[in-house]
Amino acid sequence: MAKSRVLVVGGTGYIGRRLVKASLAEGHPTYILRRPEIGLDIDKLQILMEFKRQGARLIEGSFSDHRSLVEAVKQVDVVICAMSGVHFRSHNLLLQLKLVDAIKEAGNIKRFLPSEFGLDPAQMEHALEPGRVTFDEKMIVRKAIEEAKIPHTYVSANCFGGYFVGNLSQMETLLPPKHKVLIYGDGNVKAVFMDEDDIATYTIKSIDDPRTLNKTLYLRPPENILSQRELIEKWEKLSGNTLEKITISKEDFLAQMKGADFVTQVGIGHFYHIFYEGCLTNFEIGEDGEEASKLYPEVEYTRMHDYLKRYL
Ligand SMILES: NC(=O)c1ccc[n+]([C@@H]2O[C@H](COP(=O)([O-])OP(=O)(O)OC[C@H]3O[C@@H](n4cnc5c(N)ncnc54)[C@H](OP(=O)(O)O)[C@@H]3O)[C@@H](O)[C@H]2O)c1
Repeated sequence: MAKSRVLVVGGTGYIGRRLVKASLAEGHPTYILRRPEIGLDIDKLQILMEFKRQGARLIEGSFSDHRSLVEAVKQVDVVICAMSGVHFRSHNLLLQLKLVDAIKEAGNIKRFLPSEFGLDPAQMEHALEPGRVTFDEKMIVRKAIEEAKIPHTYVSANCFGGYFVGNLSQMETLLPPKHKVLIYGDGNVKAVFMDEDDIATYTIKSIDDPRTLNKTLYLRPPENILSQRELIEKWEKLSGNTLEKITISKEDFLAQMKGADFVTQVGIGHFYHIFYEGCLTNFEIGEDGEEASKLYPEVEYTRMHDYLKRYL
């Protein structure tokens, strides 16, 4: 069977780059949207040129030019969007509504994967302000996709290792603490930690799979379901450095929101839901979902012990 042609939108981004790499590795004819707005951003251009060298095709298109998006979409079978959605970087999830319009008009897309790759927004109706904006916007995009009857898959990727593993889930740093580590509550709530390349691999596996059509693909490989204490223990064993543990109650953690800037408030809310409430693991995957490591047991996913070695 011929491999689907894949268009990655946001292909120079943090997760987008990995999606392009995984799509090329799986042998899909891979296209990347090249936006004229990148202008003089030499880093983005170099990333695009390198992907072109590896066989990707660049299609010019802009979110300010509906026709260009329609024409781009018409050239492929599958669209994966990795639009930015992290407040301390940039946050443009609702721009995807323009892409949904283009896909609807083009009418040829067999599968659309919007920019999700995090907590399942459908589980987050109760989420705290102001961080809930991420989930609310992802749900607005989902509604538009479903109303337009666009075949889709939503990927719930849980915690990216780069943001949650190397730093032992500490806020405002991406590196392991040297002396003290903040423990959220009892530190025993289970989260799910993922290597970003594995997220991309599972995502690409799902695009032609009838089992994931109009469903959510949850990335929950069993050995990566860990509590914060388990993660810290792995690091302590690897580094030979025992850290001082300082526990922070739910009340004290949330109190830090007062007077904090918007971006910090968003982060505190998300960390609260993950590490106090357990929102990544406190529900069973229902009929509208599938678990990635069960569907694709051939993927040798990265264990967090190995992920942490990068930080030694
Ligand atoms: N689970 C987790 O731990 C976690 C962590 C981080 C992110 N995420 C999720 O992953 C998804 C992608 O986030 P990311 O951090 O990978 O994104 P990012 O690197 O910040 O940005 C991705 C791409 O968005 C595009 N973009 C940004 N502003 C744009 C604009 N004004 N017009 C058109 N395109 C624009 C750019 O595409 P070009 O390449 O065309 O320039 C950019 O490369 C989001 O849904 C986010 O919520 C999850």
